[in-house]
Amino acid sequence: MAAIAFVSFFVALGLGVVLVAMRGGPRGVKDTLERGRRQPMHAGEWGVAAAIALFGLIVPAIVLSSDQAAAGPGGTKLSADHQEGRILFNDRCANCHTLEDAGAVARVGPDLDVLAPTAGLTLNAIEEGRARGQGQMPAKLYEGEDAKHVAEYIAEVAGR
Ligand code: HEC
Repeated sequence: MAAIAFVSFFVALGLGVVLVAMRGGPRGVKDTLERGRRQPMHAGEWGVAAAIALFGLIVPAIVLSSDQAAAGPGGTKLSADHQEGRILFNDRCANCHTLEDAGAVARVGPDLDVLAPTAGLTLNAIEEGRARGQGQMPAKLYEGEDAKHVAEYIAEVAGR
């Protein structure tokens, strides 16, 4: 709804600008409004109005209705839980791991697209932390539902 109001505002603004331009500046518009229209709209004016309607309303409407919001950097469509997982991942995991779907490119821990861990392995890593290899991953960055959402999200997108 807010998006439509936003778009409408710019359509009105665009039409206003075109009107001013076609009538020879603000004074021309004033004359036109005071005297009323003397002749029907030209084909050219209709063309401009149609172009504004197309780019101001129809194109945004298509984009808004095509559910772009659910598509991440990797273009994958996700359920609400997985989207939640992506947000959590970006918050506390992306600074150490690579995961293309989340747009994460860090190299402290293993590349999760390569590792493609199951939800179980990720849950265990979150629960206990990791400190066997070249670095350290703190335990309990997330707990409960949050940990589950992140783990399931990674299992869904890693390596795709
Ligand atoms: C401070 C950096 C850091 C953060 C933050 C971090 N990790 Fe890690 N992670 C690592 C490192 C380093 C390893 C490898 C540890 C090792 O080799 O012992 C690792 C390992 C892993 C593994 C592989 C575990 C295994 O047994 O192979 C998974 C899965 C994982 N991390 C997921 C996550 C998730 C999910 C988050 C966010 C909740 C996260 N990591 C946050 C550094 C981090």
